[in-house]
Amino acid sequence: MAESLVSALDEYEQAALSAIAESASTDDLEAVRIEYLGKKKGRLRDLQSLVGKASPEERPVFGKRFNDVKSKVTAALESRLESLAQPAEVLSAVDITLPGNDVKLGRKHPLTQTAQEFKDIMGRFGFTVVDGPEVEDEHHNFVALNIPPEHPARDPLDNFYLATAEHNFAGESGPVLLRSQTSTVQIRVMEQTQPPIRIVSLGRVYRPDTIDATHSCMFHQMEGLMVGDGVTMAQLKTVLHLFAKAYLGHEVEIRFRPSFFPFTEPSVEVDMYWDGTWMEIGGAGMVDPNVLTAVGYAPDKVTGFAFGLGVERFCMKRHEINDIRRFYENDVRFLQQF
Ligand code: PHE
Repeated sequence: MAESLVSALDEYEQAALSAIAESASTDDLEAVRIEYLGKKKGRLRDLQSLVGKASPEERPVFGKRFNDVKSKVTAALESRLESLAQPAEVLSAVDITLPGNDVKLGRKHPLTQTAQEFKDIMGRFGFTVVDGPEVEDEHHNFVALNIPPEHPARDPLDNFYLATAEHNFAGESGPVLLRSQTSTVQIRVMEQTQPPIRIVSLGRVYRPDTIDATHSCMFHQMEGLMVGDGVTMAQLKTVLHLFAKAYLGHEVEIRFRPSFFPFTEPSVEVDMYWDGTWMEIGGAGMVDPNVLTAVGYAPDKVTGFAFGLGVERFCMKRHEINDIRRFYENDVRFLQQF
């Protein structure tokens, strides 16, 4: 009797599971449920009464097996019910004959697009793209760029200092600040490479300006640096001219106005004629001999030019964006226009 009860339970389990698997509709499944799990007349009831008849010692063992089989079959039934019910629901929810909704794809930020275009153009002129850190020390942001301690550009109120020499990040030896210009990358590149050099570097710079439609305390610059044997100011102008021409897609005029930067000599402001007006696009000049010396180059052997252009300005002018703050607000209604 013990043997036969065990095999009856096994048989029941097998039969119930395959009946459940084979049922093709919820109606089929309901019939299976009544047959195998029905409380009044089902097969499970018959088995239960057999378990009841087992000897007191055997009863706990059979009882456990009985309960296992019962919950396994019940679970199989429930999950089958779920999967039989689902396709019908899904089919009624999705009408594949209707036109689909627009898929809203993301896109690159207009400044990222502009930066990419700048890199592509400069790449065609043989300039390699390099990156520099946004948190800088005074050596790269000022000292090596020939900016003396008393220079107004070093005023703590005109810079975002993050730490002083006394309260510094571990491992740093002096004050650190958010870089105020990408010219820092000129130094980093020259410290590590020998001429000839032809690089551009694009990235964020930080200045505590009062924020308005044309000023932001964070904006982007493209730094350019070319150093080598007999590099001239005429080449500087040619590169900037070719760059502007490539960006606009047609002939354009470039103009230099005398200026001053501690790290270039001579120094110029660069203007470009765009849509009937002269627009200032950045600063440039011949790398100052003091800077070449600071990085260990011999100023009597090599010369170089450097320039720094504002990225936002180009993008604003091209797309007729009248407020620089739009770039940083992450308003999708603005961003999705580009
Ligand atoms: N770093 C200067 C600025 O931010 C621009 C510049 C770069 C000038 C390279 C000369 C040479 O205003």
